[in-house]
Amino acid sequence: MWTRQSLNDLVREKLANYLFVVVSNREPYIHTFSDGEIVTQVPASGLTTALDPVMQACGGTWIASGRGDADREVVDKDSKVSVPSDKPRYSLKRVWISREQEDGYYYGFSNDALWPLCHIAYTRPTFRESDWETYKTVNEIFARGVLEEVGDKKAFVFIQDYHLTLLSSFIKAKNPGIITAQFWHIPWPNREAFRICPWQEEILNGLLGNDLLGFHIRYHCNNFLDTVDRAIEAKVDWERYEVTQAGSKTAVRPFPISIDFEEVSQEAQQDEVAAEMARLKSQLNLDDKLVGVGFDRMDYTKGIPDRFRAVGRFFEKYPEYRGRVVFIQAGVLSRTQLAAYKKLNEEINSLVEEVNKKHGDGHWQPIIYPREHQSQLTLMALRRLANFFVVSALHDGMNLVAKEFIASRFDEDGVLILSPFTGASRELTEALLVNPYATDHFADAIQSALEMPEEERQRRMRKMRAVVRENNIYKWASDIISELVKFEFGV
Ligand code: G6P
Repeated sequence: MWTRQSLNDLVREKLANYLFVVVSNREPYIHTFSDGEIVTQVPASGLTTALDPVMQACGGTWIASGRGDADREVVDKDSKVSVPSDKPRYSLKRVWISREQEDGYYYGFSNDALWPLCHIAYTRPTFRESDWETYKTVNEIFARGVLEEVGDKKAFVFIQDYHLTLLSSFIKAKNPGIITAQFWHIPWPNREAFRICPWQEEILNGLLGNDLLGFHIRYHCNNFLDTVDRAIEAKVDWERYEVTQAGSKTAVRPFPISIDFEEVSQEAQQDEVAAEMARLKSQLNLDDKLVGVGFDRMDYTKGIPDRFRAVGRFFEKYPEYRGRVVFIQAGVLSRTQLAAYKKLNEEINSLVEEVNKKHGDGHWQPIIYPREHQSQLTLMALRRLANFFVVSALHDGMNLVAKEFIASRFDEDGVLILSPFTGASRELTEALLVNPYATDHFADAIQSALEMPEEERQRRMRKMRAVVRENNIYKWASDIISELVKFEFGV
């Protein structure tokens, strides 16, 4: 079983002389002003949830873009700050990009082009030349940050995600001795879908600057290799899962990302969580109710309207549950500057209203959707209160919210309703897998979850807990490091 300590030992043994650098767009801790005080926020992001425990185990430097309004206040002359502030374990180095650059690189090319391109959720990608130009400039800014941090040391740079597809090539052009791996946190679609990107060749060539490229599942590796095979001049070795281009090699491997199972499971058992559950029960009038829960970053890939349609259909098909079941949706607003996200939020608001109007009465509302920010404690209490928990993504690389639900249920109860279009569904096969587009089936799955005998709920939950316990985030990081070491040094 991999632990924080065994990962730390591995890093000390294999990468002893190397500086360990993680690079991502999103920073793990954001400093903002609140009533004149500087406060630390933790973003709603699967990427930062997964990587922070890894960095806490390995130490080193995490380079990310500083966006908080107090971010510049807390850093030193090299733009660095030690985090977490209560128990510093690694350095966070911020790179600075302007508002205009953020528009083109983050909102524009990353989230209005690459995000919808890679997620098959039927939202059309928008390709703007100016966004692409800014994206390249910002990748260069990140490269300068990395090169400055590494200097003439030996370094292993671990790049994250779709915001930084050109980074490894930019770094290696200046310092070919740096070892780079990149992990792609979202799906890689099939080549037919990907080839509409006007800059697919530059992106593929950029990614092939890496020594190792990781995806969540083998299916995404296959899609990537197939895209490379058809789109650019490179030799794809399907047996070894390697690409060779101009003499340099990139290994392509699946590494299903995860969470710190033990940490989440222990947090779930704290007394404050029980107290928060009691508070929520009385505030939301849940004592005699069966509870469904969902929480998401409010994104059109998460299938939130589909979920509410299924809840509505459930009360139509099974009216005996009216007044007895509530569905609580917690959400964090995201990327609201983009039209597709504005439209999604409007659709969600009107669907909640519609379902509540149609089925609710003066005493009972089927969907509770509090708009305000929920604390980590409240989210934990909600996971524990759930008779059933819904993850209905239309397409998702992994979905760590599903794994966090499993880790929270030390009582071995609660049913997970999970979309088969998530990476998580490959491991969590004891969930009730349901296609979120199939509203009637989805409504039936809610009914099955509510009627599942206790013994079956426990059996399924026990199996899923064993899977997540074993395939934890330390295993993910150790597998990547071990693969890299094997590949790079022929050990
Ligand atoms: C996904 C992406 C991450 C991103 C996260 C939150 O998980 O793969 O790279 O950080 O969403 O999105 P945001 O745009 O707020 O960083």
